[in-house]
Amino acid sequence: MPESRDQVCPITLAGPLDNRIRRWLQSPRRLLAPYVREGITALDFGCGPGFFTLELARLVGSSGRVIAVDLQPAMLERVRVKAHGTELESRLTLHQCQPNRIGLSTPVDFALAFYVLHELPDPAAFLTELRPLLTSHGQLFIVEPPFHVSKAAFEATIQHAHRAGFRLIARPRIRFNKAALFGVG
Ligand SMILES: C[S@@+](CC[C@H](N)C(=O)[O-])C[C@H]1O[C@@H](n2cnc3c(N)ncnc32)[C@H](O)[C@@H]1O
Repeated sequence: MPESRDQVCPITLAGPLDNRIRRWLQSPRRLLAPYVREGITALDFGCGPGFFTLELARLVGSSGRVIAVDLQPAMLERVRVKAHGTELESRLTLHQCQPNRIGLSTPVDFALAFYVLHELPDPAAFLTELRPLLTSHGQLFIVEPPFHVSKAAFEATIQHAHRAGFRLIARPRIRFNKAALFGVG
């Protein structure tokens, strides 16, 4: 039976996704610093209003690059406005994808998919397209929300990732959430 997918997060939720309380609960630096080094290329897939994107851009430094991808132009515009006029702007590439196609060819060292897989029409197809984009030491960090993604659905995502060629490295603890870190090969 196909898994049911959630609706795409509306732009009206951009504010609640990008506020101080969340920053305190889910500090982007604390969550991402263990995986993101200076000079790498990082992908923020389903970036939304850029809650993680700008911190990624800080972590990769002036020699690194962040590709922020979203289905919705209005989300990408939020990211653009936030970065505009800052030193982070030149490190960022914004890319509008299709519902079932990332549409990138740039190799990436780190891919983040935070609170997005359950919104995709076909997460297995996403993982299959993503896998060859990752460099040989690349990592993928998936986080799904606590309530509307069941344990079974998250385990199914992990199985999809295995089949796409990802290797489960760890299950980082993020309170109430479901998280998995993958390598390749
Ligand atoms: C719940 S928001 C999470 C945003 C961000 N990752 C965060 O944690 O703040 C989900 C985001 O995924 C995007 N999204 C939904 N379906 C998508 C798809 N098929 N491809 C790319 N992005 C998608 C939505 O537009 C939305 O910005």
